[in-house]
Amino acid sequence: MKRIYFDYAATTPADPEVVSAMLPYFSEVFGNPSSLHYFGRQANNAVESARGVAAGFIGAKSEEIIFTSGGTESDNFALKGIAYANSSKGRHIITSNIEHHAILESCQFLESNGFKVTYLPVQSNGILNPDEVKKSISRETILISVMHANNEIGSIQQINEIGKIAQENKIYFHTDAVQSFGHIPINVDELNIDMLSASAHKIYGPKGVGLLYLRKGTKIQPFLNGGSQEKKLRASTHNVPGIIGFGKAIELASKNMGKEILQLTNLRDKLINGVITNIENIKLNGDSKQRLPNNANFSIKFVEGEGMVLGLDLEGIAVSSGSACTSGSLEPSHVLRAIGRTADLAHGSVRFSFGKFNTMEEVDYALEKFIKIVARLRKMSPLC
Ligand SMILES: Cc1ncc(COP(=O)(O)O)c(C=O)c1O
Repeated sequence: MKRIYFDYAATTPADPEVVSAMLPYFSEVFGNPSSLHYFGRQANNAVESARGVAAGFIGAKSEEIIFTSGGTESDNFALKGIAYANSSKGRHIITSNIEHHAILESCQFLESNGFKVTYLPVQSNGILNPDEVKKSISRETILISVMHANNEIGSIQQINEIGKIAQENKIYFHTDAVQSFGHIPINVDELNIDMLSASAHKIYGPKGVGLLYLRKGTKIQPFLNGGSQEKKLRASTHNVPGIIGFGKAIELASKNMGKEILQLTNLRDKLINGVITNIENIKLNGDSKQRLPNNANFSIKFVEGEGMVLGLDLEGIAVSSGSACTSGSLEPSHVLRAIGRTADLAHGSVRFSFGKFNTMEEVDYALEKFIKIVARLRKMSPLC
């Protein structure tokens, strides 16, 4: 059976060029970048070159990039690191109620350790009004963390506005850019960002490697203690092949972003228009314009998300209901609930997320199957 993958927001396949770039770093250039000898220097040069690529991509300096094990670690590092290093100034953090669990659970952990967290509600399009951020600032606020683009519904936040508010109030600003990095342009100065989380496996790089951009002068507590890697902020021997793969993936994203935005927007809009025209009682989740080029998320009345995912899987089409991280749980998605969907509509949601290896023919095929599957499931539904 031909298999079609429409779950690029969960993870992407490594680009063949990324794999080729990584291969020599397993057994040819295998040195420990911290070693002084030739083998170490060779590996260190490659890591520093990847760091330069990552920094250049977002308008940062090389020394402001810390390599981590992925988006989750970068989010934990930013939140806990800032909280503990700046607790003498205040113990209040502001975030949104549609963040990824890596942020929400870090906030809950901090709450259980004496910090106060404000979870700001978003509007029905999934976008946070920056005025809400302004209003919730107190003399105790030390950090604002708002994601750049949402992993479930793709809505893109007004990061530059929020960053400006943080800057005017001398508060650190972190953004979880795991879903936007490599997909839409980001410049940390233009967007007033102090810290940014990104992950390689969302941009055709390897799993288990990410980065935290940390503006020079930011006061942060180290995440892992041990060796002196990453300026003593993140101990542990570097994941050299992973970092090289991440660097290559960023290089490719930088070269192809404009072309990919157009390609993915066309695929996304073709599916959205087809679904809206052919299926009744559906809602597009997230803003219709301020959304990631590759995200289409629908709530479909009288149908369970799992039923649609399994029905499509039987036809060889991979999508997700809610986010990959929340599927498997019976709780309705916190993001869909936050934008005002009822529990039923939140349960009846399905996310298609596209990538550079998808084609229009695949979208046509999926649309045809999807319309039939929804009709079949509705026929069997006691609610119809
Ligand atoms: C918005 C967002 N933040 C953080 C993460 C976690 O990233 P990682 O899988 O690299 O730990 C994800 C992964 O789905 C994500 O979508």
